[in-house]
Amino acid sequence: MWWWAVPEARPPTAPPPGGIGRHCAVPAAAGSAPGRRGTAPPSPDDHPVILLRDVSRVFPADPPVHALSGVRLRVERGDYLAIVGPSGSGKSTLLNTLGLLDRPTSGSYLLDGIETTTMGDGARTRLRGRRIGFVYQSFHLLPHRTVEENVMLAEVYGGFSRRGRRERALAALDRVGMTHRAGFPTGRLSGGERQRVAIARALMGEPSLLLCDEPTGNLDSRNTGAVLDLFDGLHDQGTTLLVITHEDAVSARAGRRVRIADGILTEEPDARP
Ligand SMILES: Nc1ncnc2c1ncn2[C@@H]1O[C@H](COP(=O)(O)OP(=O)(O)O)[C@@H](O)[C@H]1O
Ligand SMILES: [Mg+2]
Repeated sequence: MWWWAVPEARPPTAPPPGGIGRHCAVPAAAGSAPGRRGTAPPSPDDHPVILLRDVSRVFPADPPVHALSGVRLRVERGDYLAIVGPSGSGKSTLLNTLGLLDRPTSGSYLLDGIETTTMGDGARTRLRGRRIGFVYQSFHLLPHRTVEENVMLAEVYGGFSRRGRRERALAALDRVGMTHRAGFPTGRLSGGERQRVAIARALMGEPSLLLCDEPTGNLDSRNTGAVLDLFDGLHDQGTTLLVITHEDAVSARAGRRVRIADGILTEEPDARP
């Protein structure tokens, strides 16, 4: 789980082979524990989960599309954040960037204190498999496989041991209240149940971050409520959640709301009492 499990990752305190540059700089505010530096490797707990510095993504076109412009974002462990914006505003581009599926054109992205923009593709894939769980609007489950098999498949890309995989899948299903359907093909489940299974799959491997793209977009209001209750419970247990949505009922439940328009992020003032 930690940085030293990722061969290409460097401890943020060590200079990269090319010398000190912006990619290895971690601000003091990222919070290495006093006395740890230089004695023991830093834990992911010492860093924000997400630190984006001046991230831009320009798609080559005529004229070029500035899908993300100068994005700065800091997400601490345990945050529950909603990103809200109209179609075409850059939400998917941001999610793909945070999920290590796309690279910024410029800027820096540290995940758990690890600079990701300079990593090779293989290291990014392993880091993604270990640290990020994805939840999508359309669930992306294999309909002819059982609930349990679908959840176990989450560990295939993270280099996890096979030993105990079934037990971990059942524990993840327990967190979403779906153990009683473990042997069902997912094609026979309701929409709300499918999304709970997809959330269990995303929780496998105890990721640092759950990235959810319109997770209630295919659900009726009752099932939307059930998924939001589940998110509240996960948040209470310390899970870091980032939810992209255009539904006010969904964003209202998050602790932080960030608007995106034309690739520019603006944090809303904290509306909580
Ligand atoms: N591969 C691409 N090539 C060119 N333009 C793209 C590409 N992907 C997205 N865009 C453009 O970038 C902008 C943001 O897209 P996107 O992140 O998908 O928005 P959202 O998810 O908020 O609807 C849009 O104007 C879109 O047309
Ligand atoms: Mg989109």
